[in-house]
Amino acid sequence: MAKVGVFFGTDTGNTRKIAKQIAQQLAPVVTEKPVNIRNASVEDLQAYDVLIIGTPTYGEGQLPGLEAGTSTESWDEFLPTLAGADFSAQTIALYGLGDQIGYPGNFVDALGILYDAFADCGANFIGFTGSESYAFQRSRALVGEQFVGLVLDEDNQKELTPTRLSDWLTAISAAWSS
Ligand SMILES: Cc1cc2nc3c(=O)[nH]c(=O)nc-3n(C[C@H](O)[C@H](O)[C@H](O)COP(=O)(O)O)c2cc1C
Repeated sequence: MAKVGVFFGTDTGNTRKIAKQIAQQLAPVVTEKPVNIRNASVEDLQAYDVLIIGTPTYGEGQLPGLEAGTSTESWDEFLPTLAGADFSAQTIALYGLGDQIGYPGNFVDALGILYDAFADCGANFIGFTGSESYAFQRSRALVGEQFVGLVLDEDNQKELTPTRLSDWLTAISAAWSS
């Protein structure tokens, strides 16, 4: 059976809350607690076959981390450690949190930054989603019309989160159930 791990970055806790919901909804496939990326190493991630990875966006379209003004280190400090790492054995499902009304020109950009970084390491991706139920101007997380993962907006569309999340978990579960 595939080993599935959940890793996240956060500042105010939304992305952690979603990580916990993912772990609960995927039990018993996910057996371990979600890990904050500031406490993880590249080797910790490579110990899994499937990675579910979450990030909010901070600053103006930046990864969370000290430079973007978050209170702790996060993805921005982790990313340089990925250089040269091989993730070709890993399948990755990304999710991102953002604010489409406050930051319509940089909506969930950090999701796109993580996608590029793990793609450079040879990772395989699952869980792209449609962008039609969001209103924004620009996002680095788009490939064509699709987001490179699940997009949640707890600031403006909180009521849509449960359905978006459970639909996505059903879709990505096919990767280890088949
Ligand atoms: C200072 C600040 C900057 C932000 N910048 C962006 C941004 O550029 N793009 C975006 O989509 N969301 C942006 N957001 C919204 C957060 O990503 C969103 O509130 C998210 O749910 C926070 O997640 P967390 O609670 O896990 O830290 C910003 C929020 C704050 C407070």
